[in-house]
Amino acid sequence: MHFHRRHGWEIPERDATPEQLFLNRRAFVAGAGSIAAMASAGLARAAEGTADPTAGLYPAKKNESFTLDRPLTPEAVTSKYNNFYEFGSSKSISAAAEALKPRPWSVKIDGLVEAPMTVDVDDLSRMMGLEERLYRHRCVEAWSMTIPWTGFPLKKLVEHAKPLSSAKFVRFETFMDPKTAPGQRQTWWPWPYVEGVTMAEATNDLALMVTGAYGKPLANAYGAPLRLHLPWKYGFKSIKSITKISFVAERPKGYWEALQASEYGFWANVNPAVSHPRWSQATEEVLGVGDRRPTLLYNGYGEQVASLYAGMEGQKIFF
Ligand code: MTE
Repeated sequence: MHFHRRHGWEIPERDATPEQLFLNRRAFVAGAGSIAAMASAGLARAAEGTADPTAGLYPAKKNESFTLDRPLTPEAVTSKYNNFYEFGSSKSISAAAEALKPRPWSVKIDGLVEAPMTVDVDDLSRMMGLEERLYRHRCVEAWSMTIPWTGFPLKKLVEHAKPLSSAKFVRFETFMDPKTAPGQRQTWWPWPYVEGVTMAEATNDLALMVTGAYGKPLANAYGAPLRLHLPWKYGFKSIKSITKISFVAERPKGYWEALQASEYGFWANVNPAVSHPRWSQATEEVLGVGDRRPTLLYNGYGEQVASLYAGMEGQKIFF
């Protein structure tokens, strides 16, 4: 894969949503933030025959508390270099992923909750409220990107779902549709893609349910219309195109763990000092820049997440 080499200072944060653009596009909703106002704007558009289910949602306001130590990776790079095995094992799956129909899309929330529910993805976004966050994204394959995601904290969804005290983990599942996704016709792979986190991880402020990138609804290749991003963990934990979120008592077995438990574990926290069985994790290729740089413990998010693993020394939390 070839990338145009740029210097860091040539890529300002221009791909994130500028405040002015955010204000302009939202000006039509006086006193933005009201679900009722957004819903009536949606109804008005429907009446005009221009119904857009995401009307009024994008771009979302940037949460300034999430800053980066490096420039944003251009959209032209991140949208064309993806892992989405449902559509093939190459990085160039963006064209194939266009077969996915991300709307209408409903998400089931079930398991150990007061009352299971099924909710439309854009209604969920309106209910939760969207924000933009700039996050680092580190793949277990030793490359990294920085992306302006739009989404809402997973902890808000957890609160909304009202889990029972017996719920110890959150399990996520991707759609299953071999007609649309040729990768899923390979029946020896453990489809559908599944991932899981502990309740403590799910309610950490960094855990983000992602619905958009670069100020727009998610393009299919990123895992439209709803994916997870856990920036302190290797990217395979950040499951795409989620249809089901279940609160469970037992630790879920992830897709990669089911495929190759000797190489991919449940915790998968980033640590430069703990190598993958077949390669070092000490450094990462920063995509779009052409540089390698040292990988940071917890991908640089230790201050926010290290306490989650206090007392777990000796367990394979970096694997
Ligand atoms: N989710 C599903 N459903 N299918 C996948 O193949 N790949 C994972 C993760 N989520 C994957 C997935 C891996 S290995 C990585 S590194 C990230 O998605 C890649 O996300 P990106 O393509 O947006 O960079």
